[in-house]
Order: sequence, then structure tokens, then C-alpha cells
Amino acid sequence: MAAKNLLLLFISLFLTVNLVSAQLRRNFYAGSCPNVEQIVRDAVQKKVQQTFTTIPATLRLYFHDCFVNGCDASVMIASTGNNKAEKDHPDNLSLAGDGFDTVTKAKQALDAVANCRNKVSCADILTIATRDVVNLAGGPRYEVELGRLDGLSSTAASVEGKLPQPTDDVNKLTSLFAKNGLNLNEMIALSGAHTLGFAHCTKVFNRIYTFNKTTQVDPTVNKGYVTELRASCPRNIDPRVAINMDPTTPRQFDNVYYKNLQQGKGLFTSDQDLFTDRRSKPTVDLWANNANLFNQAFVNSMIKLGRVGVKTGRNGNIRRDCGAFN
Ligand SMILES: *[C@@H]1O[C@H](CO)[C@@H](O)[C@H](O)[C@H]1NC(C)=O
Ligand SMILES: *[C@@H]1O[C@H](CO)[C@@H](O)[C@H](O)[C@H]1NC(C)=O
Repeated sequence: MAAKNLLLLFISLFLTVNLVSAQLRRNFYAGSCPNVEQIVRDAVQKKVQQTFTTIPATLRLYFHDCFVNGCDASVMIASTGNNKAEKDHPDNLSLAGDGFDTVTKAKQALDAVANCRNKVSCADILTIATRDVVNLAGGPRYEVELGRLDGLSSTAASVEGKLPQPTDDVNKLTSLFAKNGLNLNEMIALSGAHTLGFAHCTKVFNRIYTFNKTTQVDPTVNKGYVTELRASCPRNIDPRVAINMDPTTPRQFDNVYYKNLQQGKGLFTSDQDLFTDRRSKPTVDLWANNANLFNQAFVNSMIKLGRVGVKTGRNGNIRRDCGAFN
């Protein structure tokens, strides 16, 4: 009887340990690479000093990664002869090379430290780097949960229909985010990432030139902003030309994104509709008036985003090269 109880105790202990190891936690690398966060931070800071684009590019890369089969660095994989990878889906057009380069540089810095070499997953490096760019742009600093493995697959086909489009309304956005376990307020908070970054002119043509058969301009766009957008984005513009998503404080992580929406200065339909739709408007108003509440909501939503589709055990590994499977 006693032996049987002991056995049960062992089994349950074993299961508990397994469950815990399958969960994300702070200081996951305390034993293997205790300085991981400082090493990544230094590499990110150096890269930000070289080019500001590092900040929005890294934030966007994280979002794209997590929304397509979870936060597993599958977005980093380069295509090969027999596999067209996630990053080569047409929805990648907004991904600037600087986001990828941030992770690559941080990984190089980690690999230069003997005990850290190939001990930290690319998915975790991207998670830490994303937290750091938000903070370096003046946003809140928060504790990251770590312990993700890198994914074992990456296909362009898997991207289809997973990422929000500029033309999406609140219904569409809500359902896309719900598929990742994120609710309405979390969707509104993560949309606040558009306080940084840029978009290609062609993505707003529908709002300033070709709205519908009777009206050229989307009536929800602020009149002065229409003039500004038309000046920056003439019809015949080079499709590579980009404009700021937050026309007011484009290099500052702040709640001005929501103030812009109140004035009809959301760049995309997917931004402005957050103010037009009565379900999301109260939250937009609240965060436009209270930066602390927005910061708290953003941090909580980022931590929750970081839990999406995490790979553990046999579902992943630690890549030696973030851009290629081992
Ligand atoms: C995006 O995909 C295209 C092909 O569809 C590819 O040529 C381009 O390099 C990709 N962009 C990035 C940043 O990987
Ligand atoms: C075009 O949009 C305007 C403003 O929303 C609307 O009043 C009008 O009915 C629309 N016209 C067509 C043909 O959809």
C-alpha cells in the first residue's frame, strides 16, 4: 500500500514537473544563460542607434510571427528550393529587413558567449527584442515570459487569412484576434502598436482616391489629413514609398494613436473603425485620455500574445541559425 502511494506520488510529481517545464516563465535561462536579457538588450540598442526602423520592424515581425502558427520564429525561416516560407507570402510586404536583422544580431551576440551558444531560442530572442524596442521608443518596460522553442515548419500557404488587413473592420479584426485567444480590448490595445511604424502609400489609396462609385474619399478621414495624405501619396507614386502610421508622433511609443483616431487621423480603415464602431469607441476614448491605462493594457496584451501557439518538447527545438531549420 505504502509503495503504491509512493509510486503515485512519483508519477504525479513527474507530471507536475513536465507541465511546469511546458510553461513559459520569467528567468527561464537563469541556469543556462543568465545574462540573456542584457546581451539582447545591448544588441538591440546598438541596432536602434544605427537605424530607427529597427523599432517598428521588430514589433511588426513579432506580431506576424505570433499570428501565424504561434510565437515560434517561423517567420524568420528563409525559403528554400522545395519550401516557400512564411516570409515570402505577399502579406510580408510590410516586413522590413531590420526586424530580421535585429534577431540575427542578438543571436550572434549570444553565440559569442560560451555558455549561451545555441541555448536561447530565436522565438525568445524575438520576444525579448520586441519588449526592448517598445521600451527604447518610450513605451513601458515589462517582464517577458520565456521558454519557447523554435518551430519546425514555415510555409507561405499557412499565412493566408491569418493577418489583419488594412481594410478590415472591427468584426473581422475581432474574429482574427479571437482565433489567437485575444479579446476585443486586447485587439484595441495591440492596434496601438500603430503608434510606431509606416505603411506603403498604395494601402491607403482606397481611402483617399477610390472609396466607392459616388465618393472618392472615405468620409471618416479628417479633411486636413486627406490633403496631407494626397500630398505624400500622389496616385502615380512609387509603390515602395511609405508613410508614418501615426502622423503626429511617429517615433514615440505613446497613446497619441488613440487621440488621432478621435480626430479622424487613423491611417487605415482597420484603425479608424476602432473609433467608428460603438463597441470599441469607449476604449479608444478611455486610452486617448489615459496613457497609463493604455500602457497597462498593452503590456498585458503583449504577454498574452507571447503565449500564442508556443512550441515545447518535440514540437520544436533551438535553431542554430534563426533563418534555417537545424
Ligand atoms: C516578401 O516576399 C517576396 C516574395 O513574395 C520576397 O521577394 C521578399 O524578399 C520578401 N520580403 C522579406 C522582407 O522577406
Ligand atoms: C459611398 O460612400 C458614402 C459615404 O459612406 C455613402 O454615403 C454612399 O452611399 C456610398 N455609395 C455607394 C455607391 O456605395
